[in-house]
Amino acid sequence: MPARLIVEGGVALRGEVAVSAAKNAALPALAAALLTAAPVVLDNVPKLADVTTIRSLLGRLGAEITDESDGSTRIRTVSVRSHEAPYELVSTMRASVLVLGPLLARTGVARVALPGGCAIGVRPIDQHLKGLKQLGAEIAIENGYVEARASRLKGARITPDLVTVTGTENLMMAAALAEGTTVIDNAAREPEVTDLARLLSAMGARIEGAGTERIEIEGVTDLSGARHRIIPDRIEAGTLLVAGAITGGDVTVTGAVPAHLAAIRDKLEECGATIDVDGDRVRCRTPGRPRSADVITSPFPAFPTDMQAQVMALLGLAEGTSKISETIFENRFMHVAELGRLGARIEIDGGTAVVRGVERYQGAPVMATDLRASASLVLAGLAARGITEVSRVYHLDRGYERLEAKLQALGARITRVMS
Ligand code: EPZ
Repeated sequence: MPARLIVEGGVALRGEVAVSAAKNAALPALAAALLTAAPVVLDNVPKLADVTTIRSLLGRLGAEITDESDGSTRIRTVSVRSHEAPYELVSTMRASVLVLGPLLARTGVARVALPGGCAIGVRPIDQHLKGLKQLGAEIAIENGYVEARASRLKGARITPDLVTVTGTENLMMAAALAEGTTVIDNAAREPEVTDLARLLSAMGARIEGAGTERIEIEGVTDLSGARHRIIPDRIEAGTLLVAGAITGGDVTVTGAVPAHLAAIRDKLEECGATIDVDGDRVRCRTPGRPRSADVITSPFPAFPTDMQAQVMALLGLAEGTSKISETIFENRFMHVAELGRLGARIEIDGGTAVVRGVERYQGAPVMATDLRASASLVLAGLAARGITEVSRVYHLDRGYERLEAKLQALGARITRVMS
């Protein structure tokens, strides 16, 4: 039975809330466990629908996954039982493509369904495949599947045509077991990429430059097991800070890495918020109405596309007009029409949304279309007059761990109903 969220707006959120671990760091870390027959133990793996999906995929490939009494997740793939990531899994979660590099590097064979379309854009994986070919893999596309083969991958210099996060992660994992040295130029610098490099290094990989545009990987013949703690979720932290800002409240997120949130913090300050940082705590106070601000999404360390929808909900209530340019995904404005149902005044012109701030949103039934769009509708509902009903919240569950409970802890009147 699909669930809905009933959000009663008008409460200024106040208090402290701890951030969960990052979905986009947990998924590649779980896939990386395929690279070795030894156990990999991950601390802090968030309980999310996407994590459940990749766990079942890894299970099919031969991984044994156990939840340890200390809360950690232990993954051991003594032998790879299958080389196939089936369409029914990849189509539900594109990040399943992250098994391609590890499978190919470990076994020399991988059959991974092409992801196909997605709510926020076409999202091809051509750069992943181009890089693997440069590492010596034979790649064929047959019946909607990538068929990849390589006796042993060989180091190469790879320059993806554009910055790709999972592309960089897939190539880094593949290169870890390749013969010789690989250089990835124009690499993604996201904290999740750096966190994966930290895990791989703990497994015995030789990686330099993660977090910069140039990553160098000297291949090794084997990788060992390791224990690794997943980094906090900067997008969840940003979402919670915007929840405080949009309700005119005072919210502190704890257990975060403030440096990972720099662009988000700067944008909130531009909107008139007061941001304080103290160790792993980030506090956001927004007494008055937000100010308008322009936003351009771009790869890290610039403003993240995964925060675009949430900040749009905030700017929809700002004094003045804001322009939001989405440069990463060609179709990431699905939330605009739904925010319009709450009274927002937003016009789309190609990759730019022009947001004319209104005094107040009006509660209404709205429908989530993707993970971050669903978060923006919940945030808008928190600031609206009356009741907002958000349907299709399974989108939210894919990437936020216990978001309602965290918002309730800050004073939000939000309940989940099974319809
Ligand atoms: C990662 O997706 C994240 N997902 C996304 O988060 C995030 O929005 C995105 O990076 C950008 O920050 C995970 O880490 C699991 P890309 P990814 O490859 O790696 C094009 C969320 O909400 N491209 O960096 O798939 C692509 O179409 C999700 O948590 C190619 O053309 O994104 C896009 O326009 C949504 N060919 C751009 O590059 C390729 O081979 C950046 O995509 C690869 C990408």
